[in-house]
Amino acid sequence: MSKTVFITQRIPQRAVAMLREKGYGVDVSLRGRALTKRQLIRALKKKSYDAVLSLLTDTIDAEVFDAAPSVKLYANYASGFDNIDLVAAEQRGISVANAPAVSTAEAVAEHTIALMMSLATRIVEADRFVRKGRYKGWAPLRFIGMDLSGKTLGLIGAGHIGERVAVLARGLGMNVLYTDIARNQSLDHAGAGYIATIDELLPRADVVSLHVPLIPSTKHLITAARLSRMKKDALLINTSRGAVIDERALVEALEQRIIRGAALDVFEFEPRLSRGLAKLHNVILTPHIASASAQARIEMAELAAHNIIDFFEGKIPANIVTKK
Ligand code: GLV
Repeated sequence: MSKTVFITQRIPQRAVAMLREKGYGVDVSLRGRALTKRQLIRALKKKSYDAVLSLLTDTIDAEVFDAAPSVKLYANYASGFDNIDLVAAEQRGISVANAPAVSTAEAVAEHTIALMMSLATRIVEADRFVRKGRYKGWAPLRFIGMDLSGKTLGLIGAGHIGERVAVLARGLGMNVLYTDIARNQSLDHAGAGYIATIDELLPRADVVSLHVPLIPSTKHLITAARLSRMKKDALLINTSRGAVIDERALVEALEQRIIRGAALDVFEFEPRLSRGLAKLHNVILTPHIASASAQARIEMAELAAHNIIDFFEGKIPANIVTKK
C-alpha cells in the first residue's frame, strides 16, 4: 500500500515532488507557521500517516508519538534534532532522522562569519545611524571597530560547521583555537590549535563561536561565570541553539560590558527574546536564518525526502539518529 506523509509546514517543493514521484500521499500543513503541539496532534489524528517530515519548531515527544501510533518515522528538516525526544522514540521503536546537508554547514559557517564581521565593523549600528538621519559629515572617530586579522577565534564544537568556520576565518588572517570532546584532524592539519577545555579556551579568544548540538551536557554551557572568563573586548557568536547560552546571564554581561558584544541567530526562549536583549546596541540579532541559503534549504528538503523513501524501501537511511 502506498505510504502517506505529513509535512508540518511548507518547505521547498522538491521534497513533495520526490515523495509524490514514489506514489506517496503527501499532506502539507497550510497554516503557514509553526504548529503548536496540540495542532500537530490534531493534524496527525486525521489520517493514519506513515511518516512525518517535521521542522525544528515542532515539539515531538511521547504525547505526540502515542497520539499517532501509525507513524514509524519522523524525518526532521534540520541538522539539529533537539526538538524530538529520542529516548521516547526509541522506547516505542520509532525512528528519527535529521538532514545535515553539506551546503547547510557552508551556509551556517558563512552566516557565522557575516555576524562576526558585522559585529566587529559595527555595520548594523552604523546602518541605523544613517537611516535615522544622524549622518551629518565624516568624522575620524566614529564607529571605531575591531580588527579581526591577527586575532584569535575560539571555536566551541569542531564538527562540519566549526571546521568550515575555521577555514573561512583562517582566510581572514585569524588564528584559530578549538575545543571539543575529541580532536578534529582536519582542523589540526589546517593549523588550528586544540585546547582541552572550554575554560582554558575562553580567556585566549577574541571571538568565541558556538557550534555544538543542544544536548543535556551543552545546555547553559555558557554561564555568567564563563562569560566573565572571556576577554573584556571579546565577541560571542551563536548560530547553534539558543539554550547553549544562559541568555539572561548574557544580557547582564552585555549590559555591564563584561564582554564587548554578541551576535545571535538563535535564542534560548525562541521566538521570544530575554528581557533587555533587543535594547542593547552591542548585539546583532537574526531570526534563526543561518542555514537559509537557497541551496541549503533545497538540499535539506532532498535529504529529508530521501530519508523517508529509503526507510520505506527497507534501506537504512543515511541520517537515522535513533539507535537501531
Ligand atoms: C538549523 O538550525 C538546523 O538545525 O538545521
